[in-house]
Amino acid sequence: MRITVIGTGYLGATHAACMAELGFEVLGLDVDPLRVAQLSQGKLPFHEPGLPELLRKHVNSGRLRFTSSYQEVGAWGDVHFISVGTPQRAVDGGADMSFVKSAATSLARNITKDALIVGKSTVPVGTTRQLREIIRDNKRPNVSVNIAWNPEFLREGFAVADTITPDRLVIGVESSEHEEVLRAVYATAIAGGVPLIATDFETAELVKVAANAFLATKISFINAFSEVTEVAGGDIRILADAIGLDARIGRSFLNAGVGFGGGCLPKDIRAVQVRAGELGLERSMGFLREIDQINLRRRARVVRLSRAMLGSLSQRKIAILGVTFKPDSDDVRDSPALDIAKKLFDEGAEVSVYDPAGNANAFNRFPQLNYMGSVRDAVKDAELILVLTEWDEFKALSPDVLAAQTSSRKIIDGRNILDFSMWEASGWSVGSLGRRWWPNTVVSRQTVSQLELSSGPAS
Ligand code: UGA
Repeated sequence: MRITVIGTGYLGATHAACMAELGFEVLGLDVDPLRVAQLSQGKLPFHEPGLPELLRKHVNSGRLRFTSSYQEVGAWGDVHFISVGTPQRAVDGGADMSFVKSAATSLARNITKDALIVGKSTVPVGTTRQLREIIRDNKRPNVSVNIAWNPEFLREGFAVADTITPDRLVIGVESSEHEEVLRAVYATAIAGGVPLIATDFETAELVKVAANAFLATKISFINAFSEVTEVAGGDIRILADAIGLDARIGRSFLNAGVGFGGGCLPKDIRAVQVRAGELGLERSMGFLREIDQINLRRRARVVRLSRAMLGSLSQRKIAILGVTFKPDSDDVRDSPALDIAKKLFDEGAEVSVYDPAGNANAFNRFPQLNYMGSVRDAVKDAELILVLTEWDEFKALSPDVLAAQTSSRKIIDGRNILDFSMWEASGWSVGSLGRRWWPNTVVSRQTVSQLELSSGPAS
C-alpha cells in the first residue's frame, strides 16, 4: 500500500515520517517548494524531539519522498491523507476551510487509480460529506475515489510517540471496505493493543473537537479557581492535586498558570462555537466563550501582577524566560508567553526574552523585544523575571545562582513550576498564578483584591 500525505506542516510531516517508520512507502506533498526542498534533504523546518532522526532515516532509505506535484501523487498513491491546516478565519473565528477544499479538489482531479482519501485535519462537523460531493464532482469517471475521516490527537513535543502508539484511533467510514483499508494502515498499533473506534463521519469529526474543547475546559476550570485562591488565599497546586486524586477527575491538564495557547486549542474552541451557530445551536457551545475569556484573563493577570510587584511598568527591565506556547516546541502561535511579552512592551517595559527553541519564531512575529541567547543574558539587570513556559531548564533554576546574575529578587512563576518556599527562603519575592503574591504580609482579603485591581485595568 502506497501512502501519500497532503500538507507537510506539523501534522503532515510527522504523519509522513511515522508512516515510513511503520514500513510504508510514503510521498508527501506540499505546495511550498521551499518546504519540499528542505524535507527532501532530511531537514525538518520546526522543532520536534525525535522527528529529525526519523525524517533523515527514511529520506535516506528512499522510503520517504516529497513533491509539489498533484499529478505525481494522484498517479502513485493508494491512500491519500489530507493534513493541511484549518486556520482561524479573521472575520468570525470560524475555521478557514479553503486549504482542505483545495487539497480535496486537486487530489480528485489527479487521481488515476482507485484510492481512498482520508482527512486528518481538524474540521467543522459536516465537512466530510461536503468533501465527498467535491470529490464526486471532480474525480475522473473511470476511477473510484472514496473518503474517510481519521482525526489526529498528537501533541507537539510528543508527536512521534502519539502517532505510532496513540491512545486511540478514531475513523469515520461509510463502508467496512474502507475500515479494512485503515485497519491495514494502522495494523502495528492495533496489534499492540491500541483501540480503534470505527464510526460515522460526523462522530469522527466531532471527537477531535470535543477532545480539545474538554482539555481547554479543564485548564480554564483550574485557572478560574486560581482567580479565587489568588484573592481568598489557598494554593491552587494543592487544590489540583487533591481533586485530581479523584479518578473521575484525574490530575492531568489541571496545571494552573498562564493558560493554553498554540495552533489548536484556542482556534478549535472558537471554530466549534461558529459551527454551532451555523447549526442554530449557539447556546450549546456558549460555555466555550467563557473558557476562552478565563484563559485570556490569565495573561492580563500576569501584566497586573508585574505592575503590582514593580510599582510601575514604564521603562522597567523585565526578563521573560520561555516564549513558546509549551516546552519542547518552537511554536509561538497564540503563545500566552509572547502575548504577555507584547503587552508588557506596549506598557513601556524593556523586555528581554530567552527561550531554548522559540526565539527565532517569536522574533519573526514581534521583533521589538530583546532576544537573548541564554538565561544569564536575559536576566542581567532585570528588575523582574517571568517564567512563562515550563522548559526543564527553567524548572532546574537555582534561586541563589539566579540571584547572582540579576539585579533584584523578584520573579513570577507563570507555570507553577518553582518550589516557592525554597525561593522565598533565598530572599526572592515570588508572584504566582493561583496564590497570593505577598504571603508574608498581613493584608485583608479586600485589600488584596483592591490593590491588584487598582494597579491596572483588568482588560
Ligand atoms: C493539543 C491536544 O492536546 C492534542 O491532543 C491535539 O492533537 C492537538 O492539540 C491538535 O489539535 O492538533 P497541543 O496543541 O500540542 O495539543 O498542546 P497541549 O499539550 O494540549 O497544550 C495546549 C496548551 O495548554 C499549552 O499552551 C499548555 O501549556 C497548556 N496547558 C496544558 C496548561 O496550561 N495546563 C495544563 O495542565 C496543560
